[in-house]
Amino acid sequence: MVQKLRSGEKAVLGIIAAVVLLLMARNFWSIETNHVKDEGIPYYSTASKDLSIKAMDIYRQNNCSDCHSLWAVRNMMQNVPAPILDGLGSLHSEDWFYRYFSAADPQSIIPSRLKKEYRMPSYQNLPDAERHILAQYMASLKVKDWYLEATRKAEYEKLTGKTYHDSSSSAQ
Ligand code: HEC
Repeated sequence: MVQKLRSGEKAVLGIIAAVVLLLMARNFWSIETNHVKDEGIPYYSTASKDLSIKAMDIYRQNNCSDCHSLWAVRNMMQNVPAPILDGLGSLHSEDWFYRYFSAADPQSIIPSRLKKEYRMPSYQNLPDAERHILAQYMASLKVKDWYLEATRKAEYEKLTGKTYHDSSSSAQ
């Protein structure tokens, strides 16, 4: 049954329609102008397919994912608060990684706040070629500029357990 609306009801409906339109327009506007828009996954690798495959084989054989997360993969049975490896190639050079993996005592390069069994093990006994491949691959793990500071912050907080203060707001 079609009922005629009274003019008061028409006015109310008109106002509701106007508010809905305004909200839609506002949402549309903020999608267009949002400054923290979703820019996708910030991590990428510059490695060739060949290097990635070789490096990830070594990575698996040495159970790195027992402690670390990389490409969102880690061993869920383990719970070591080691740094996430994504993007670290924007923080260290290939040479640095090679020296770190080759060190008899990695904690002389990065001090640890963890119990001995959770600390980064020495990989000095891995064949030299494998340490080079790992280092080359780690150095290829980059992070886009807009997420660099967040990556630095996450790494610092994992390594020290302290709160990170933005480098732009602290005198260095
Ligand atoms: C037993 C746990 C464990 C395993 C296994 C392990 N790591 Fe680590 N790793 C750590 C911890 C914890 C740290 C942080 C330093 C520390 O506490 O010793 C670390 C640090 C690092 C860092 C430096 C991170 C930074 O923020 O600069 C890299 C790179 C790294 N590990 C790569 C690897 C690779 C590659 C493997 C496998 C070959 C591996 N790790 C295996 C626990 C582990």
